[in-house]
Amino acid sequence: MKITVIGTGYVGLVSGICFCKIGHEVICVDNDQEKIAKLNNGVMPIYEPDLADILHSASQNRQISFTTDLASAIEQSEAIFIAVGTPQDESNGDADLSFVYQVARDIALASKSYKVIVTKSTVPVGTNQKIKQIIKGCNPRLEFSIVSNPEFLKQGAAVEDFLNPDRIVLGIEDDRAQNAMTEIYRPLQKANAKIIYTDIASAELIKYAANSFLAVKIGFINEIANLCEKVGADVREVSKGIGLDPRIGPKFLNPGPGFGGSCFPKDILALSNTAKQNNVKSSIIDAVISSNNNRKLAMVDRIITACNNNVGNKTIAILGLAFKAGTDDVRYSPAIVIIKELLKKGAKINAYDSQAIKNCQRAIGDNSVIKYFDNPYDASKGSDALVIATEWDEFRSLDLKQIKELQKTPLIIDLRNMVDVSKAQEFGFDYFGIGINPTQ
Ligand code: UDX
Repeated sequence: MKITVIGTGYVGLVSGICFCKIGHEVICVDNDQEKIAKLNNGVMPIYEPDLADILHSASQNRQISFTTDLASAIEQSEAIFIAVGTPQDESNGDADLSFVYQVARDIALASKSYKVIVTKSTVPVGTNQKIKQIIKGCNPRLEFSIVSNPEFLKQGAAVEDFLNPDRIVLGIEDDRAQNAMTEIYRPLQKANAKIIYTDIASAELIKYAANSFLAVKIGFINEIANLCEKVGADVREVSKGIGLDPRIGPKFLNPGPGFGGSCFPKDILALSNTAKQNNVKSSIIDAVISSNNNRKLAMVDRIITACNNNVGNKTIAILGLAFKAGTDDVRYSPAIVIIKELLKKGAKINAYDSQAIKNCQRAIGDNSVIKYFDNPYDASKGSDALVIATEWDEFRSLDLKQIKELQKTPLIIDLRNMVDVSKAQEFGFDYFGIGINPTQ
């Protein structure tokens, strides 16, 4: 089929390019001229494993094009995917739906024939019905169907997650839409992806409930980690022991500095707001939100305590800036919160991340007290403490002997339990992990 995808962010770009991979022809639309020009030259605006290669072959096969001309894209396609951002409205925590509604109006005004309008952006329950009203209002005679098709793409594994989904969720109201969506996802169905056809509200809520549950799981293991530190247990053993219960499962039980990213913090807050707007108590979800926000700040206290309660004029090396391994994204990254708080306390920062330095510089802004390095060793040089904030694999095999020689003080605060504790102690480091016994 010929598909239009509106929005070339993490979701739109991965979806558009992967739709080509499964055999469709795709027009990707964005209003960012510069981004579209780069994409037409094969320059990727985001880092996602394998995405550039798939784009290259899709371009070679003339399966994909990038344009700012939404009207012409709409005219050429029957299926239109809305994949624009729904960022958190910082003032009230609601999802900002202005981009989605604007695109809905644009689609209505540009459509002259039947369309299946698919919302892939993460939108609160009820939004698809509002999209339907907007389109009807702008183009009363247009025949169209709306579909809710939330994505479950993890950044850093988005291509894998798109091509090998656990499930494809389709909120649908009519057969015509169901036929079109079955056609679009048929290649993935062959790969045993389970397609769930459901109503639109359930499809919208599945997305929020899934992300919020995963966030609850992370918040839970982070609190268990705190308890482990007090009672001398090892959270990695506890995590393994509970994860063997299939009702719990082993994934998303790794303690860390708190969850970040462009999804969990935004989605769990939006779900809490939806509950409040419907007069439904959401005490568990609200508890995880505050627990997670407090945790990022608690990590700062942990670093200061380990530095004899004073980081003023000390150099702290931060290894890992992205909110998680495998991505260049620093949105709601614990590392950014930690750096900002340490700078406020008078610390100097040496920062390293293999992918996220550019985005970190944008997030922190110009700051002469933070220096960026292209490797962890130069970042560690002369540091009074080394903090590991992102679970990049390379931090599992740091040359501790070299780090020891480079640091001013042999102190490691490992917020992701990446370093082997016994090795760290063998080299004479003061080592602090998460949920494991602190250095005696
Ligand atoms: C998430 C969902 O996993 C995905 O299905 C949805 O479509 C989008 O949101 P993403 O935000 O890319 O994906 O990252 P994810 O891998 O879920 O990690 C989110 C945060 O939780 C990261 O900060 C990560 O470091 C943290 N995390 C994850 C933990 O602290 N411990 C874990 O065990 C797993």
